Amino acid sequence: MGKKMFWLVMVGIIVFGVLAATRSIWQDPAEQTWMKTIIPKVNILPKEKSKAYAQACASCHMLYAPSMLPARSWKQMMLGLDDHFGDNAELESSVREEVSAYLQRNAADKVENIYAQPMLNLLKDDETPKRISDTAYFKLVHDIVRPEMVTGNPDVKSVARCEICHYEAMDGRFSRFSVRIPNYYKEGTWHKVRQKNSKTEKAVEQ
Ligand code: HEC
Ligand code: HEC
Repeated sequence: MGKKMFWLVMVGIIVFGVLAATRSIWQDPAEQTWMKTIIPKVNILPKEKSKAYAQACASCHMLYAPSMLPARSWKQMMLGLDDHFGDNAELESSVREEVSAYLQRNAADKVENIYAQPMLNLLKDDETPKRISDTAYFKLVHDIVRPEMVTGNPDVKSVARCEICHYEAMDGRFSRFSVRIPNYYKEGTWHKVRQKNSKTEKAVEQ
């Protein structure tokens, strides 16, 4: 066998080997089992915990991960707690400052994780989003989530209730593999669960 032929065969074997080993990447996404085992382990909650944050901000909704917004958003939000999305969430000034500093220290522009960087990249320089759900990144990753699945869904009601769909949200995990939407199921895309018709069910039983 000539040298050229030898290398041709070698390259062939290597290409075949790489394709076989990475089958999960180019095959049907439903078979990307290796991703299911890796991605859900990403935890975006800061190592630094804050009791003050938990006490001040967990009574009306889940504790949002500080890295979901840039520091300037937290700063602005913490200065307007008397009118916080229509609610009064005002705090004693020392507590407010402590929570504000904590949020800003751990904000998207101060840490690194798989959601913070793409979120910042899609933000305009002069933009200070008021909500996580206002960011272009949030809208992009929720492109397939239709209004009837959220506001029109009695078991979800608001997109701010991350933990309803992301059942590991409280542990800082937002992988697309740990999403369930009440009253919907995923088969390729999301479909509405049809209400069981008790009359037809009885008819089938008889
Ligand atoms: C008195 C109740 C209350 C308290 C206390 C409260 N919030 Fe809220 N928060 C709300 C409401 C109401 C909304 C809007 C929810 C919706 O749109 O469904 C909201 C929304 C938010 C959002 C936007 C969620 C989104 O859609 O992206 C953030 C971020 C947030 N709150 C942070 C905080 C922080 C930080 C604190 C503590 C300083 C706090 N909240 C305390 C009532 C509260
Ligand atoms: C109505 C259900 C629903 C709610 C409420 C919801 N999400 Fe999602 N989220 C989804 C779905 C569905 C996807 C996309 C999964 C996919 O691409 O297959 C997603 C994707 C994401 C992703 C990207 C995950 C990845 O693997 O790339 C992030 C980050 C995220 N959501 C954060 C949030 C945050 C933060 C909140 C609350 C402020 C929230 N979501 C509220 C349903 C929801």
